[in-house]
Amino acid sequence: MSMKVILGAQWGDEGKGKIVDLLSADVDIVARYQGGANAGHTVVVDGKTYVLHLIPSGILHPNVVCVIGNGVVLDPQAFLDEVAFLESHGINVRGRILISHNAHLIMPYHKLIDSLNEQGTSKIGTTGRGIGPAYIDKFARVGVKIVDLLHSDILVKKIKANIEDKNRLLSKIYNSSTINVDEIVDSYLHYDEQLDEFIKDTSLYLNQELKAGKKVLAEGAQGAMLDVDFGTYPYVTSSNPTSGGACTGLGVPPTAIDSIIGVSKAYTTRVGNGPFPTEIKEGIGDQLRKIGGEYGATTGRPRRCGWLDLFSLKYSVMVNGIQEIALTKLDVLDGFDTVKVCVGYKYQDKPLKSFPLDLCTIEDTEPVYESLPGWKSEIANAKSYDDLPHGCRSYVEFMEKYLAVHVRIVSVGATREQTIAR
Ligand code: GDP
Ligand code: IMO
Ligand code: MG
Repeated sequence: MSMKVILGAQWGDEGKGKIVDLLSADVDIVARYQGGANAGHTVVVDGKTYVLHLIPSGILHPNVVCVIGNGVVLDPQAFLDEVAFLESHGINVRGRILISHNAHLIMPYHKLIDSLNEQGTSKIGTTGRGIGPAYIDKFARVGVKIVDLLHSDILVKKIKANIEDKNRLLSKIYNSSTINVDEIVDSYLHYDEQLDEFIKDTSLYLNQELKAGKKVLAEGAQGAMLDVDFGTYPYVTSSNPTSGGACTGLGVPPTAIDSIIGVSKAYTTRVGNGPFPTEIKEGIGDQLRKIGGEYGATTGRPRRCGWLDLFSLKYSVMVNGIQEIALTKLDVLDGFDTVKVCVGYKYQDKPLKSFPLDLCTIEDTEPVYESLPGWKSEIANAKSYDDLPHGCRSYVEFMEKYLAVHVRIVSVGATREQTIAR
């Protein structure tokens, strides 16, 4: 069986969309394993920019089948909008997208509760797409699943029971107006007709295809440092973007995985709240944002920026079992005299041995930097590794040595062509 897992090794927005699109040329199936429309994955092909939220980033390859796994929480309207967007660009998606019957649905009350939570005192800075509340319902065993769309009586019963509960919560705890049952029931009954053709037992499908020798690329959304178990909790998303999530989120065994690729930017960004040790609030941070166009693909929010955090990346390599790195946005560092990399954290003046997971420690850590000479020349047109200036190659090799992982792909621009395979 041959499944590659590709995931974000940092705090999301590493350029996964570009790399997944690129690797999709050599696979039969691309399968998204967690998250929802909180993701924004940018793919630039033939001068057109596509931002995908739910549909796997392999969709621009006409022979690739795209699977939305059971681990995803699916907003039906966001999905249908994305289908319409792709079709309006002449991309045929019919018969090429399969949604797991076991995935959970995002309901309007999830988005409402998400936004109400963000008005409180402890803001996570979510994307407002209802992700946390939908996963809460999943784990509280009251969620509405895709398969429920196929049984209207069960669907109506579940939605009504949920809305009764949520309305109590909304009026008594949140002091908010309540929601109308009939409107939601009507719209979700309608989604059945629109989604029917996509629904499948995707775990069975993936296992059968893998057994038949087909190649699968499992696509993670968000990033390891936003993982609900291994990220900077509570400033995380509500799913497992780490490699283990690929198995639970697709229903394929760990033995099916033959390689794990981590995508990392050549520097670090984070959007939303939470600890970010190498963040630079002004100066170089602003420069990185400007040169790298660091604004959220889903919400348009400015991303917080800083130098490459190798210490957190080493932790990410460990937790995910990353065997190869796809390094993106190296071109963004072209103009700097000196580039810095964080090679450790200090806490109360003592170096930490491992990545800290308690908020108090991580919020008070101080990054330890190593300075490397910049290369001061444009690399966007480099076609091979040898075309890169010496300083740039030294930067890549410093990273490889520190992480003990091979950097197999170097990305020097947003397009497919601006990629160097090593
Ligand atoms: P994702 O969520 O990991 O798929 O990443 P996003 O799409 O949210 O953000 C990455 C951004 O960087 C997008 O605008 C990409 O088009 C862009 N991008 C990807 N790779 C490169 C690169 O190597 N250089 C530059 N300059 N931009 C890139
Ligand atoms: P892609 O797949 C970057 C962040 C949010 C917030 C936290 C929780 O494009 O890399 P949520 O809406 O998930 O409950 O928000 O997670 N976040 C992302 N940051 N890239 C993403 O996706 C993200 N998806 C969620 O900003 O801090
Ligand atoms: Mg993104």
